[in-house]
Amino acid sequence: MDSTRRTEDEQAARWNGPAAHAWVEAEAVLDQMLRPFEDLLVEAVLAEPGRHVLDVGCGTGGTTLAVARRLGTESRCVGIDISEPMISAARARTQREGIQASFVRGDAQDHAFEPATFDTVMSRFGVMFFKDSVRAFTNLRRAARDDARLRFVTWRGPDENPFMTTAERAAAPLLPDLPARRPDEPGQFAFADPDRVHRILEESGWTGIDIRPVDVVCTLPEKELVGYFTRLGPVSQVLPATDEQTRARVVETVRAAFDTYVHATEVRFTAACWLVGARASTAS
Ligand SMILES: C[S@@+](CC[C@H](N)C(=O)[O-])C[C@H]1O[C@@H](n2cnc3c(N)ncnc32)[C@H](O)[C@@H]1O
Repeated sequence: MDSTRRTEDEQAARWNGPAAHAWVEAEAVLDQMLRPFEDLLVEAVLAEPGRHVLDVGCGTGGTTLAVARRLGTESRCVGIDISEPMISAARARTQREGIQASFVRGDAQDHAFEPATFDTVMSRFGVMFFKDSVRAFTNLRRAARDDARLRFVTWRGPDENPFMTTAERAAAPLLPDLPARRPDEPGQFAFADPDRVHRILEESGWTGIDIRPVDVVCTLPEKELVGYFTRLGPVSQVLPATDEQTRARVVETVRAAFDTYVHATEVRFTAACWLVGARASTAS
């Protein structure tokens, strides 16, 4: 099997396995934590005309629905995600909330979108997991109308986001099998280098590329913190295979490492991200 196919399979497996179920279970906490980015994207989408919106790597649909709610019944908002559990959760939520939006389970790298359909392609942290980013953004360009806009948020590097690596740094001495982050592989920090993001978008038929830093304060309830780091991220991947005693020590050690972010009943940290904008190039 070639390595491209292997990585795609790994990503598909990851987002259809425990990681997806963890995201679904933590939906409310994650939506609260990432709400400032939802607001950023909603404002960016509403600032320009056009009501056909594609949300890439939409997860359980929080951002898709926030945009659909604001655009109203004339809009056509579509979320795509590779994860069946996440898409099922998004569909259930749409029904629950009575909002008009639709969800597709598919790989954004090669899903057969109807060509030249969307006025806006957006994403909240859903575009860093492609094995072939140029293929993905070329496919998204094909789905976009000429001059459509692209708006997404993505993480800057781990050095600027110490909250995100607190758990693995604290747990490393206790968990020898902890998987290492691979910055050159698909993953949370794969778009940390803005020059790389610029190159990918340029090669994929996007123009007017604007990549600006945004530093955003995010919060979650302190009572959700242990659930957060035991369910999500590298520590959560190895924790189920450890014995009870080690697990208890990891939880205690990691929880203490987060103390600096805890303010009474709230956990607070600054997320260092890029807000990326571009337009679908009309040059053929
Ligand atoms: C970090 S989560 C973000 C989810 C959501 N946008 C949010 O902010 O709550 C990344 C999402 O990208 C999805 N994803 C990963 N690779 C994908 C691909 N090739 N095509 C579509 N979705 C993908 C995952 O299944 C996951 O839902």
